Amino acid sequence: MEPLEHVAWPPEPIKTERLVLRESEARDRTAFVELLASPEVNTYLGGPRPRDEVERETPEVPGRWPGSFVVELDGTMIGHILLRRATKHRPAAVGKADLGYLFLPRAWGFGYAAEACAAALDWFDGVLPGEPVVLATQTANVGSMRLAAKLGFTEVERFEAWGAEQWLGMRSPVTP
Ligand SMILES: CC(C)(COP(=O)(O)OP(=O)(O)OC[C@H]1O[C@@H](n2cnc3c(N)ncnc32)[C@H](O)[C@@H]1OP(=O)(O)O)[C@@H](O)C(=O)NCCC(=O)NCCS
Repeated sequence: MEPLEHVAWPPEPIKTERLVLRESEARDRTAFVELLASPEVNTYLGGPRPRDEVERETPEVPGRWPGSFVVELDGTMIGHILLRRATKHRPAAVGKADLGYLFLPRAWGFGYAAEACAAALDWFDGVLPGEPVVLATQTANVGSMRLAAKLGFTEVERFEAWGAEQWLGMRSPVTP
């Protein structure tokens, strides 16, 4: 995966009903460490990394690149949305923009991920109009599968990788 190219970055913070999407800042570091080290967050992402290793290797301002949104609720980071250019991937996905999302467990079950991802996809439609977006997730990751459906992704294929069944979805470009 590579950062998105040819997009003006960072955009003005994006406000939704309950959330703000913005570029990462140094004060978000603790939440980034939590996302990487949390067993719950990483259940379907290959497992958590040891916290001391994450602490050592996480930069002062993590996740600062075009297409990387910190999601903030009441001034505190609750999640990370990643829009990246797929490089090594399934043939159907190579070269396309890829959506990823990670939220802290205490923020699950309120519709925040859906609200924030919809806003990120709106932003994407504005800066790279007419481009599809792909998304890969384990089929066992029920919350992620439901979110993908809510966001308008439909199945391209299922495949085996890393010892589990994976789902590749695509969201067709919005035509005005
Ligand atoms: C995947 C993940 C982001 C989903 O989070 P989530 O909070 O379940 O997702 P949503 O924002 O769609 O919220 C869903 C729930 O909020 C509920 N909800 C509560 N209040 C709501 C509101 N005001 N508006 C909308 N939904 C609301 C919905 O009913 C929904 O529950 P349901 O899916 O059981 O019907 C989260 O589980 C996560 O971060 N997982 C770890 C990382 C990961 O696996 N990422 C995928 C990598 S591809």
